[in-house]
Amino acid sequence: TIENFIMIKPDGVQRGLCGVIIKRFERKGYKLIGLKMLNPTEEILKEHYKDLADKPFFKKLVNYISQGPVIAMVWEGVDIVKQGRRIIGETNPLDSAVGTIRGDFGLEVGRNIIHGSDSVASANREINLWFKADELIQWKNHSTEWIYE
Ligand code: GTP
Ligand code: MG
Repeated sequence: TIENFIMIKPDGVQRGLCGVIIKRFERKGYKLIGLKMLNPTEEILKEHYKDLADKPFFKKLVNYISQGPVIAMVWEGVDIVKQGRRIIGETNPLDSAVGTIRGDFGLEVGRNIIHGSDSVASANREINLWFKADELIQWKNHSTEWIYE
Protein backbone atom coordinates (compact mmCIF):
# COMPACT_ATOMS: atom_id res chain seq x y z
CA THR A 1 0.00 0.00 0.00
CA ILE A 2 1.06 3.58 -0.45
CA GLU A 3 0.99 6.55 1.87
CA ASN A 4 0.25 10.22 1.38
CA PHE A 5 1.08 13.35 3.34
CA ILE A 6 -2.00 15.53 3.83
CA MET A 7 -1.99 18.79 5.79
CA ILE A 8 -4.92 20.97 6.82
CA LYS A 9 -3.61 24.52 6.41
CA PRO A 10 -4.23 27.28 9.02
CA ASP A 11 -7.35 28.54 7.19
CA GLY A 12 -8.86 25.05 7.31
CA VAL A 13 -8.21 24.85 11.05
CA GLN A 14 -9.50 28.38 11.75
CA ARG A 15 -12.65 27.78 9.74
CA GLY A 16 -13.54 24.63 11.63
CA LEU A 17 -13.09 22.31 8.66
CA CYS A 18 -10.84 19.68 10.29
CA GLY A 19 -13.66 17.25 10.98
CA VAL A 20 -15.24 17.37 7.53
CA ILE A 21 -11.84 17.12 5.84
CA ILE A 22 -10.81 14.07 7.85
CA LYS A 23 -14.22 12.52 7.20
CA ARG A 24 -13.81 12.80 3.43
CA PHE A 25 -10.70 10.61 3.49
CA GLU A 26 -12.10 8.27 6.12
CA ARG A 27 -15.42 7.65 4.36
CA LYS A 28 -13.64 6.91 1.05
CA GLY A 29 -11.95 3.98 2.79
CA TYR A 30 -8.51 5.37 3.50
CA LYS A 31 -6.71 4.61 6.75
CA LEU A 32 -5.24 7.30 9.00
CA ILE A 33 -1.82 6.23 10.30
CA GLY A 34 -0.44 9.51 11.65
CA LEU A 35 -1.87 12.82 12.87
CA LYS A 36 -0.56 15.79 14.82
CA MET A 37 -1.25 19.49 15.31
CA LEU A 38 1.71 21.84 15.18
CA ASN A 39 2.85 25.37 14.47
CA PRO A 40 5.22 24.81 11.54
CA THR A 41 8.53 26.68 11.52
CA GLU A 42 9.60 28.73 8.49
CA GLU A 43 12.46 26.26 8.17
CA ILE A 44 10.25 23.22 7.67
CA LEU A 45 7.96 25.14 5.30
CA LYS A 46 10.85 26.32 3.15
CA GLU A 47 12.05 22.74 2.92
CA HIS A 48 8.53 21.43 2.26
CA TYR A 49 7.88 23.91 -0.57
CA LYS A 50 11.50 24.13 -1.81
CA ASP A 51 10.47 23.39 -5.41
CA LEU A 52 8.54 26.69 -5.37
CA ALA A 53 11.38 28.80 -3.91
CA ASP A 54 11.74 30.82 -7.14
CA LYS A 55 8.04 31.64 -7.44
CA PRO A 56 6.89 35.23 -6.82
CA PHE A 57 4.33 34.02 -4.25
CA PHE A 58 6.83 31.92 -2.23
CA LYS A 59 7.21 34.38 0.66
CA LYS A 60 3.44 34.86 0.94
CA LEU A 61 2.98 31.10 0.87
CA VAL A 62 5.42 30.53 3.74
CA ASN A 63 3.84 33.40 5.74
CA TYR A 64 0.37 31.97 5.18
CA ILE A 65 1.14 28.47 6.38
CA SER A 66 3.46 29.61 9.20
CA GLN A 67 0.55 31.39 10.89
CA GLY A 68 -0.42 27.91 12.06
CA PRO A 69 -1.57 25.75 13.56
CA VAL A 70 -1.83 23.03 10.96
CA ILE A 71 -2.96 19.41 11.15
CA ALA A 72 -0.37 17.11 9.56
CA MET A 73 -1.56 13.64 8.59
CA VAL A 74 -0.47 10.47 6.87
CA TRP A 75 -3.14 8.47 5.06
CA GLU A 76 -2.70 4.99 3.62
CA GLY A 77 -4.51 3.01 0.93
CA VAL A 78 -4.72 2.09 -2.72
CA ASP A 79 -3.80 4.93 -5.11
CA ILE A 80 -3.96 7.43 -2.21
CA VAL A 81 -1.66 10.01 -3.81
CA LYS A 82 -3.62 10.39 -7.06
CA GLN A 83 -7.00 9.92 -5.39
CA GLY A 84 -6.01 12.37 -2.66
CA ARG A 85 -5.50 15.06 -5.31
CA ARG A 86 -8.96 14.23 -6.68
CA ILE A 87 -10.54 14.56 -3.24
CA ILE A 88 -8.72 17.89 -2.71
CA GLY A 89 -9.33 19.49 -6.14
CA GLU A 90 -7.21 21.84 -8.24
CA THR A 91 -4.66 24.31 -6.83
CA ASN A 92 -7.08 27.19 -7.42
CA PRO A 93 -10.41 26.64 -5.61
CA LEU A 94 -12.24 28.42 -8.46
CA ASP A 95 -11.01 25.74 -10.88
CA SER A 96 -11.95 22.93 -8.49
CA ALA A 97 -15.08 20.87 -9.05
CA VAL A 98 -17.90 21.10 -6.57
CA GLY A 99 -17.59 18.00 -4.41
CA THR A 100 -13.86 18.49 -3.87
CA ILE A 101 -12.52 20.05 -0.68
CA ARG A 102 -11.20 23.19 -2.36
CA GLY A 103 -14.22 23.35 -4.68
CA ASP A 104 -16.64 23.20 -1.78
CA PHE A 105 -14.89 25.35 0.80
CA GLY A 106 -12.51 27.85 -0.82
CA LEU A 107 -12.25 30.87 -3.10
CA GLU A 108 -8.58 31.83 -3.40
CA VAL A 109 -5.35 30.04 -4.30
CA GLY A 110 -3.59 31.68 -1.34
CA ARG A 111 -6.26 30.28 1.05
CA ASN A 112 -6.81 26.83 -0.37
CA ILE A 113 -7.34 24.98 2.92
CA ILE A 114 -5.35 21.79 2.43
CA HIS A 115 -2.14 20.33 1.07
CA GLY A 116 -1.68 16.94 -0.58
CA SER A 117 1.52 15.49 -2.03
CA ASP A 118 1.74 15.57 -5.84
CA SER A 119 3.54 12.23 -6.40
CA VAL A 120 4.55 9.09 -4.55
CA ALA A 121 8.13 10.39 -4.40
CA SER A 122 7.03 13.73 -2.87
CA ALA A 123 4.75 11.90 -0.46
CA ASN A 124 7.68 9.85 0.85
CA ARG A 125 9.89 12.93 1.10
CA GLU A 126 7.20 14.93 2.91
CA ILE A 127 6.29 12.12 5.33
CA ASN A 128 9.95 11.87 6.33
CA LEU A 129 10.16 15.63 6.70
CA TRP A 130 7.08 16.00 8.94
CA PHE A 131 6.94 12.71 10.86
CA LYS A 132 9.31 10.53 12.84
CA ALA A 133 9.01 6.79 12.20
CA ASP A 134 7.51 6.15 15.66
CA GLU A 135 4.75 8.70 15.01
CA LEU A 136 3.28 6.46 12.30
CA ILE A 137 0.95 3.82 13.67
CA GLN A 138 0.65 0.45 11.97
CA TRP A 139 -2.79 -0.86 12.92
CA LYS A 140 -5.28 -3.33 11.52
CA ASN A 141 -8.50 -1.78 10.32
CA HIS A 142 -11.19 -4.43 10.74
CA SER A 143 -13.30 -3.06 7.90
CA THR A 144 -10.46 -3.60 5.39
CA GLU A 145 -12.08 -6.73 3.95
CA TRP A 146 -15.30 -4.76 3.38
CA ILE A 147 -13.42 -2.02 1.53
CA TYR A 148 -11.03 -4.19 -0.52
CA GLU A 149 -12.28 -7.23 -2.45
P1 GTP B 1 -0.19 22.07 -2.26
O1 GTP B 1 -1.03 20.86 -2.03
O2 GTP B 1 -0.30 23.11 -1.18
O3 GTP B 1 1.24 21.70 -2.61
O4 GTP B 1 -0.86 22.76 -3.55
P2 GTP B 1 -0.75 22.32 -5.07
O5 GTP B 1 0.12 21.11 -5.21
O6 GTP B 1 -2.14 22.23 -5.59
O7 GTP B 1 -0.04 23.58 -5.73
P3 GTP B 1 1.52 23.94 -5.76
O8 GTP B 1 2.33 22.86 -5.11
O9 GTP B 1 1.85 24.33 -7.15
O10 GTP B 1 1.55 25.25 -4.86
C1 GTP B 1 1.66 25.16 -3.46
C2 GTP B 1 0.79 26.21 -2.82
O11 GTP B 1 1.25 27.48 -3.17
C3 GTP B 1 -0.67 26.21 -3.27
O12 GTP B 1 -1.47 25.29 -2.59
C4 GTP B 1 -1.09 27.62 -2.95
O13 GTP B 1 -1.42 27.76 -1.58
C5 GTP B 1 0.18 28.39 -3.25
N1 GTP B 1 0.13 28.94 -4.60
C6 GTP B 1 0.31 28.28 -5.77
N2 GTP B 1 0.19 29.11 -6.81
C7 GTP B 1 -0.06 30.33 -6.28
C8 GTP B 1 -0.29 31.61 -6.84
O14 GTP B 1 -0.28 31.81 -8.07
N3 GTP B 1 -0.51 32.64 -5.95
C9 GTP B 1 -0.52 32.44 -4.60
N4 GTP B 1 -0.76 33.48 -3.78
N5 GTP B 1 -0.33 31.25 -4.05
C10 GTP B 1 -0.10 30.21 -4.88
MG1 MG C 1 2.02 20.97 -4.38
